[in-house]
Amino acid sequence: MDKLIIHGQKPLSGSVKISGAKNAVLPIMTAAIMAEGKSRIKRVPDLRDTRTMIKLLEIVGAKCTFHNGSLIIDGSTVNNPEAPYDLVKTMRASFYVLGPLLARFGSVKVSLPGGCAWGPRPVDFHLKGLEKLGAKITLNSGYILAEAKRLKGTKISFEFPSVGATGNIAMAATTAQGTTVIENAAREPEIVQLCEYLNAMGASIGGIGTSRIVIEGVDSLHSADIKVIPDRIEAGTFLMAGAVLGKIKLTDVNPSHLDTVLLKLKEIGADINTSSNSITINPTDNIKPVDMTTAVYPGFATDLQAQWVALMTIAAGSSVITDTVYHDRFSHIPELNRFGANIRVDNNTAFVRGVEELVGAPVMSTDIRASAALIIAGLFAKGKTTVSRIYHIDRGYEKIEDKFRLLGANIHRGNSNG
Ligand code: EPZ
Repeated sequence: MDKLIIHGQKPLSGSVKISGAKNAVLPIMTAAIMAEGKSRIKRVPDLRDTRTMIKLLEIVGAKCTFHNGSLIIDGSTVNNPEAPYDLVKTMRASFYVLGPLLARFGSVKVSLPGGCAWGPRPVDFHLKGLEKLGAKITLNSGYILAEAKRLKGTKISFEFPSVGATGNIAMAATTAQGTTVIENAAREPEIVQLCEYLNAMGASIGGIGTSRIVIEGVDSLHSADIKVIPDRIEAGTFLMAGAVLGKIKLTDVNPSHLDTVLLKLKEIGADINTSSNSITINPTDNIKPVDMTTAVYPGFATDLQAQWVALMTIAAGSSVITDTVYHDRFSHIPELNRFGANIRVDNNTAFVRGVEELVGAPVMSTDIRASAALIIAGLFAKGKTTVSRIYHIDRGYEKIEDKFRLLGANIHRGNSNG
């Protein structure tokens, strides 16, 4: 079953439970293999990416049992510090095993991740950081080989607050000799939770959530349990649909992770109410055009850029959307224009002229968040939309069509003849 079939313009209502955050659980899973013993992780979303990561952890020797959102990882049997190409090429986050395995075994072989749907995704910050910690890094037929008897704490400054590099270096530095300071560290909630988890495992990390993280090396880590934070990107995706199609309530969500997004939604005219763990959005029937520029946290997330463009396609005017994190993350634009949207891209900026109405069309997913934008457009559009290659959406959204159907959307999974 590789398509979603949507009959658009159905009103939405009711409440939707937000799943655990994909981008928090993936590094937490790789941190778990730094310790012997069983770690219990709760609210794990059942995604292609979490299942891919389970496969990878089993390849390195860990034992994993995943049932009903609860994942137990036993790191006692980890014995094979190698992440193979055919797995890493399907999920860039596999690179997160580099720091943990190097710290635990002193030597690790990880396939260099390739690019992704929208362009090159280098890992130079990860490698330079590990070299500064004393690792010897060599590249051999597409594999990174990293070796270090024991990593030594030092000061590392990132030229860009990379989420992945911050996670990898923080994990590697937990058992380095001495103190490591990461300047210009990522402040995303997913990295905050990773650092909190590492401290629960016995690490000694200070400055969590700031751009200066200080890590005092400890001798070893032990297993620990944790409940994954809610997925702010999934939440933002539903809010952008609700802004047009109907009053919906998100539960099990952390509104403080979405401050910038909620501000922008109020600017377009939606009405937002929040409690400590819920967000209710009341739609507006006249979407004001609002420019948006992505930024690292707490700015507007690049992972919600495609969804925001979809929302702006039916705004009452023109808007300008710039992505400062990825300058080439616009593979969703030609597909959105197939709905009759009017969008032009120049360098890292999309210029959107709002249209009266989108018309359903056959469209193709190109990456996780582009797929979400196509679903939003299909829900807005008149008539039938089929979204193909939905394995992309299954990588990052748990049962998205079931959740939208429960809210009143006419959406279901079909096979190639739809
Ligand atoms: C994480 O990717 C997320 N993935 C991405 O979400 C997200 O888009 C991204 O952070 C930005 O928020 C996971 O957490 C698994 P970065 P990551 O390192 O860590 C450049 C999704 O849809 N860079 O913060 O790979 C890079 O090219 C995914 O869930 C280097 O130049 O992102 C980009 O321009 C897509 N060298 C910028 O930094 C490096 O060594 C930010 O990348 C690393 C990054």
